[in-house]
Parts: sequence; C-alpha cells; structure tokens
Amino acid sequence: MKIILGVSASVAIYKACDICRELSKAGHSITVAMTRTAVDWINPVLFEALSGNEVITDAIAGGMAHIDIRSGADLMLIAPATADLVARAAQGRADDIVTATLLAYDGPRWLAPAMNPSMYAHPATQASLAQCRSYGYRILDSADGEAVCGDVGQGKMMAVSDILAAVAAFKPAG
Ligand SMILES: Cc1cc2nc3c(=O)[nH]c(=O)nc-3n(C[C@H](O)[C@H](O)[C@H](O)COP(=O)(O)O)c2cc1C
Repeated sequence: MKIILGVSASVAIYKACDICRELSKAGHSITVAMTRTAVDWINPVLFEALSGNEVITDAIAGGMAHIDIRSGADLMLIAPATADLVARAAQGRADDIVTATLLAYDGPRWLAPAMNPSMYAHPATQASLAQCRSYGYRILDSADGEAVCGDVGQGKMMAVSDILAAVAAFKPAG
C-alpha cells in the first residue's frame, strides 16, 4: 500500500519512527508529512532514511504538495495525533501540511491520538474526536496507562504493535 504517515508533536513522536520503519519493512511505500513543531523536534532526514522517500514539511512543501502527496495513497495515518491537531482536524483547518493533506485526501483517514490523560478526557478533545468520527475518520483509541508526565489514565497512543496490526488487517478499496 501507499501510506501517508502524518506526524505531529506529541511526546510519542519517537514511536512514529518505529511505525515508519516497520511499515516500510512490511513493503508499504511511506510518505511522511510533518507538522512544523514535529520538525522542530525530529529532523525529517531521519524519516527520510527510514522510509526511503522524501519527507513533506511546510518548509519544503511546494504550493501543491498537499494535493500531490495524496495521489494513489491507500491510507492516511496520523500517528501520533496531538490534541491540537485533533482540534484542527475537527474544525477542518488546513494551516499546516498535515491538516491540509487531511482535508485534501478523500481516502481512509486514521488518527492515533496521543496526549496526557486530562487533555484526552477534556470535553473539548472528546468533542473534537466525535466530530472527526462524524467525518468518517477512524480513531485508533488511545491506550490506558502511565503517561510520560506520570499521570495515569487513557490518553497515550495506541501501542505501535496494535497500530501495525490494524494497518495489516486493513484492505484498501479496489
Ligand atoms: C515536551 C512536550 C511534550 C508534549 N507532548 C504532547 C502530547 O503528547 N500530546 C499533545 O497533544 N500535546 C503535546 N505537547 C503539546 C504540543 O506539542 C503542542 O500543542 C503543539 O503546538 C502541537 O503542534 P502540532 O499539533 O502542530 O504538531 C507537548 C509539548 C511539549 C513541549
């Protein structure tokens, strides 16, 4: 499959490296798109090495990058998806390359929220997730456990192995 992997600036961003690597190893073609803050945290060259493909960022995106990268894609997976990205997605905003692509792409769109349990439980986040579901986006349920900050509850990103299993089980249309 051709997969667009959107990456945003959650502390779980390091797990996106494993997702990228494992999906590439499984034979998928991965194009990574990163938010501006994600680029501040991890140099895109790492995802380029892991995927073997050019990484799309706001800094290097040409005028039509959000249109170009969607072509032929079977799936767009945003992992991790921050609270802010989920809110932007719910509002239909397109102020960075990841959310712009999310709007422009009309295939299956999956979000893997990753945040502190209080952020996850906040009604604003829950309303945003419900709104995203109403658009047909699949929400990969956050896991229970201890967040990096020490808080305990639901909010951390679904385990990488479970995300990989969900992708493996996914059958693209056509
Ligand atoms: C060290 C650190 C860790 C963070 N971890 C998270 C997180 O796990 N989830 C989240 O929603 N926001 C987290 N944030 C806040 C986001 O980085 C912030 O909202 C940012 O604007 C999100 O940008 P993006 O969604 O465009 O990538 C964290 C911030 C810092 C400084």
